[in-house]
Amino acid sequence: MTETAVPNPAAPRTLMAVIGSVRPGRQGDKWGRWIADVARRHSGYAVEVVDLAELALPFLDEPHHPRLHRYEHEHTKQWSAKAAAADAFVFVTPEYNYSFPASLKNALDYLYVEWKDKVAGVVSYGGLSGGLRATHQLRQVLEALGLAVPPGTVAIPFSAQYLTEEGGVDAPDSAVLSAQTMLAEMERVGALLRPHAS
Ligand SMILES: Cc1cc2nc3c(=O)[nH]c(=O)nc-3n(C[C@H](O)[C@H](O)[C@H](O)COP(=O)(O)O)c2cc1C
Repeated sequence: MTETAVPNPAAPRTLMAVIGSVRPGRQGDKWGRWIADVARRHSGYAVEVVDLAELALPFLDEPHHPRLHRYEHEHTKQWSAKAAAADAFVFVTPEYNYSFPASLKNALDYLYVEWKDKVAGVVSYGGLSGGLRATHQLRQVLEALGLAVPPGTVAIPFSAQYLTEEGGVDAPDSAVLSAQTMLAEMERVGALLRPHAS
């Protein structure tokens, strides 16, 4: 007799915080750890952090369109398995020349079905704009991949001022509040998209 897996609605959904910048001396890892910490304290998500610097994907080197899910390389299979296991994503992005970094675009381009019909949020940081121009461009790409991005994202203007000597960030209350609002909205929209996902 075969058993059918029954989704457990009580199990926490998983959130992947993706650190989008990879350069030495970056801020991105600090903001990635910060949003993961906020999500652990203020949401129902089980939280994982993926650092694209550690993932170290080469420029997209798969011969087939990601939609076909015919991956040849081990690095793609590993990235696919990680993303497939997540219910939701927060992309942590700087603004590079009014856009988001190539490292993040490359990691997104690698996959397709793993993103579809899931919910995403964005934490951006930078100068005066707080990375909002990067977020606007990123939002278009996320939507092309079938990710739902609720309206409220987190933008941190003049983000360098919040770096601490201990290697973290001391974010303003306004950032924590907007992160909480974004996460709550992600949980609400995520439940509408995948009502039975465990
Ligand atoms: C290549 C490059 C382009 C940048 N362009 C912008 C920009 O368009 N707008 C902005 O607010 N900051 C810009 N900055 C400053 C970044 O906001 C700042 O360096 C930030 O720390 C970058 O994120 P990271 O440290 O995680 O790489 C740029 C920085 C770099 C390295």
